[in-house]
Amino acid sequence: MYRTHTCGELNLKSAGTEVTLCGWVQKTRALGGMTFVDLRDRYGITQLVFNNDTDVALCDKANKLGREFVIQVKGKVTERTSKNLNIPTGEIEITVSELNILSESEVPPFIIEDNTDGNEELRLKYRYLDIRRPQLRDRLIMRAHIVSAVHQYLDARNFIEVETPLLIKSTPEGARDFLVPSRLVHGSFYALPQSPQILKQLLMIAGMDRYYQVVRCLRDEDFRGDRQPEFSQIDCEMSYVHQEDIFETFGGMIQHIFKQVKNYELKEIPKIKYDDAMRYYGSDKPDLRFDCKIVELNGLLPASEFNVFNNAIANGGIVAGLNAKGCATYSRKQLDELGEFVKAPHRGIGGLVNIRFNEDGTVKSSADKFFNEEQLRQIGKAFDAQKGDLLLIAADKTSKVRRSLGDLRLELAKRNNWADPNAWSVLWIVDFPLFEKDEETGDITFAHHPFCSPHLDDMQYFDTDPTRVRAQTYDMVMNGNEILSGSIRIHQKDIQEKVFDKLGISAEDRDKKFGFLLNAFRYGAPPHGGCAFGLDRLAMLLAGGETIRDVIAFPKTSGGRDLMMDAPTPVDPKQLAELGIGLK
Ligand code: AMO
Repeated sequence: MYRTHTCGELNLKSAGTEVTLCGWVQKTRALGGMTFVDLRDRYGITQLVFNNDTDVALCDKANKLGREFVIQVKGKVTERTSKNLNIPTGEIEITVSELNILSESEVPPFIIEDNTDGNEELRLKYRYLDIRRPQLRDRLIMRAHIVSAVHQYLDARNFIEVETPLLIKSTPEGARDFLVPSRLVHGSFYALPQSPQILKQLLMIAGMDRYYQVVRCLRDEDFRGDRQPEFSQIDCEMSYVHQEDIFETFGGMIQHIFKQVKNYELKEIPKIKYDDAMRYYGSDKPDLRFDCKIVELNGLLPASEFNVFNNAIANGGIVAGLNAKGCATYSRKQLDELGEFVKAPHRGIGGLVNIRFNEDGTVKSSADKFFNEEQLRQIGKAFDAQKGDLLLIAADKTSKVRRSLGDLRLELAKRNNWADPNAWSVLWIVDFPLFEKDEETGDITFAHHPFCSPHLDDMQYFDTDPTRVRAQTYDMVMNGNEILSGSIRIHQKDIQEKVFDKLGISAEDRDKKFGFLLNAFRYGAPPHGGCAFGLDRLAMLLAGGETIRDVIAFPKTSGGRDLMMDAPTPVDPKQLAELGIGLK
């Protein structure tokens, strides 16, 4: 045995015992005839002390240790004279009697401590060194605890973990597939699964009843802070369930995870209808750690000559705004910045009208020309505006205004620290539309995937007003991030056909893409539904990371590169020839 203890477990109770420890040299310092070494491993840091008076040669050897050398020491646990009560081992040190160098290290490219001097690119290149830093190490450990809590919860409820293949046919999540060429059938390709969606439905038809899998999903899409080309899902499916059963099971699971991982009692999870989320928060993933609802003013505005408002309403759009509480003192510059924020091309609003309820009781507005103070106060009533409040109002097409004010709401929260960092906002978003209309082409597409069941009550609108049909689809949202998505699936052949027809998927195409699923439906499909948690996002939020890279051991950069392995790279022409592939 290399060691008797780890670097995180010794304390005063062990004083006087002889121990052997192994680990990395974090730091050495020589001080008045003594040499102190901080020895680190996954479990913590223990101070070693070498005494020049008792053993000059040993002390010399210690003085020559470099950062990140791997060493083994034998010695006695001794009470420290100057204690460090910030760490569990801070009351003791090891008086070393034997030192063995197990492995030397070159000078590491950055300081391996939480307060590091390495930028993210360098740390990704040397990720194995980065993972030695306590912060990243602890995040990976927390991620493992989440997965362990998931196994505990689902295993106790009759769920069976089943592995599904990676080399498959295209799946219906709507992103771009990663393709793998077949060596045996030139010109044919496997697709890597965007999720095991179809396979888990087949497992329901196969009678597994309750399935789950902690599984890697692959999507060739553009990356952002909360997206990676490969990411993990906690993928689940159940037979004989309605939406309420899903809410109970997976609401319970997230409560269990909070309890196990954070010792936090998460309350009953509220449900918000998609339409309400869009209307009041301009987002299908609202962060409700703070309030600030969008207020629509159509029908509440005093008559005026202000054509920005009048035209928006006449063209079927809306006038709506937010009450930025306590922001009436914003400077001209700050107001301009917010105006620019909504003008950004992807938001495309012409600007913001402001109404300032000043502390001195006056009310001023950028639309003073069109509204007198009395009228401004009347508008303020819709927002319950008080002294000190700033109203920010936009007018345009409904969807544009909502989206922009939704973004503005988040921006205001960021600037004013509205979100309590210790609060959690976890919600179900329900009653999504089954179909979406492409704003440019007018084509109907599916909002989630083509196997989501419509609300059967809404089938009456299916032919006449399809975008009015709600789906039995739901998301779970945590602090403004979508962490789960799922639906009750269609198990009736006639409804599936109707949906395919509406989506314009031809009989030939359905057969080519999903024939194996549709065939299976001919042999007795139980009603079923399920969901998938985005494990990386969940771990990021619980561990307090900024991006999902912070909870993935070996992530890719935003350009899709693995800087450590240096992938992707060109391959040997011989390999391509075997696959029957020529490069242009
Ligand atoms: P969906 O595509 O919504 O649903 O994915 C489920 C959850 O996975 C997470 N997620 C991602 N995380 C990191 N990087 C990505 N590129 C990424 N894409 C998605 C999100 C999301 O909520 N088969 C369905 C689930 C079902 O219907 O049961 C599916 O995959 O947190």
